Amino acid sequence: MEPRAGAQPPPCPYFSADADLSLLARGPAPPAAFAGRTVWVTGASAGLGAAVARAFSAAGAHVVLSSRSRPRLEAVAASLTGPTTVLPLDVTAGGPALAEAAAAAAAAGAAAGGGRGVSVLVHCAGASQAAAAIDASPATLTSLLDVNAGAPMRLTAVALPFLCAAAPAVVVGVASMAAVVPSPGQAGYSAAKSALTMFLRSLDAEMRAGGVAAVVACPGPLTAPAGAPPRLVYGPQGLTPAPPESGSKGRVSLDRAAELVVAATHHRARVAWIAKHPVLFLAYATQYAPWLAAAVLARVGPGRAAALSAGRGGYDTGALLAGRGGAEEATRDGKRD
Ligand SMILES: NC(=O)c1ccc[n+]([C@@H]2O[C@H](COP(=O)([O-])OP(=O)(O)OC[C@H]3O[C@@H](n4cnc5c(N)ncnc54)[C@H](OP(=O)(O)O)[C@@H]3O)[C@@H](O)[C@H]2O)c1
Repeated sequence: MEPRAGAQPPPCPYFSADADLSLLARGPAPPAAFAGRTVWVTGASAGLGAAVARAFSAAGAHVVLSSRSRPRLEAVAASLTGPTTVLPLDVTAGGPALAEAAAAAAAAGAAAGGGRGVSVLVHCAGASQAAAAIDASPATLTSLLDVNAGAPMRLTAVALPFLCAAAPAVVVGVASMAAVVPSPGQAGYSAAKSALTMFLRSLDAEMRAGGVAAVVACPGPLTAPAGAPPRLVYGPQGLTPAPPESGSKGRVSLDRAAELVVAATHHRARVAWIAKHPVLFLAYATQYAPWLAAAVLARVGPGRAAALSAGRGGYDTGALLAGRGGAEEATRDGKRD
């Protein structure tokens, strides 16, 4: 059909995208897509993990919620309408504690999910970084690598026999766009999420045909929940409150990111980018025009690393491109330079 004279062409979806175009083209998960299934979410007491738990619950799943804080998990569980199980767990605990938790999650799934154990495991526990590589202490790097990469790898390994028994099953790793685009001021975090990404992509190649697929969800900057205390990130000397946000522009809401994680899980997307521009642009540039991405990163890198080490935000693109190192963003204690 010919367009009407004077009619505007539809806007190009690329410019308003908040995820990679292949994920958006596949559409959302249908309603009740996870009815009768058990989804185990780590890091479920706050932030994106709590939103992911809500989204799977809304899609019909029985949700097993894990993190270290039982009271906060119980508060999240109380806000869900579907069946839940609260299973406190420090994901950095040793192998026996992880194996015991995996068995408990599977048993809860068998009881609640019609005899089928856990068929989706979502690794959301983790913490970002705000420190230049030169400032990051060795102990900080060890800890952030463990919570973001070592722990989800170990938990996956002990959970795999249970996931195989409940196949078809999916392991979802919440990585980051820092695993797609080099991230000045977050070098250790970028490395940890890249390790998790390649662990899961390799596992997917080993096991998808046998019924256990792996999905890597890579969120970019997300909006913080209203009124919540600031999340903790790894500063130069360990965990510290995250720098305040400079605004919601360019950020994806937690609920939208969770909806996209559910869609990626339903479609068994191998990798799903969840971000708006300019981070999404940089991801495409890193993949298809690496020389361009390298030029942008060389321009913004030193200023962004210095800004994050100093407790300022790292997403004021205009200031970073102008070489002002995010100086116009708020500092951790709320003051501006
Ligand atoms: N927010 C963003 O902009 C963003 C962007 C990209 C990727 N991500 C990723 O998304 C995930 C969630 O981030 P978020 O921003 O939502 O963080 P958050 O609000 O700080 O929540 C972190 C969650 O992880 C749990 N956790 C931390 N250490 C744990 C441990 N050792 N064992 C078990 N649970 C642990 C925390 O619960 P307890 O304290 O109760 O243990 C909490 O539930 C992380 O993997 C992060 O890297 C976030």
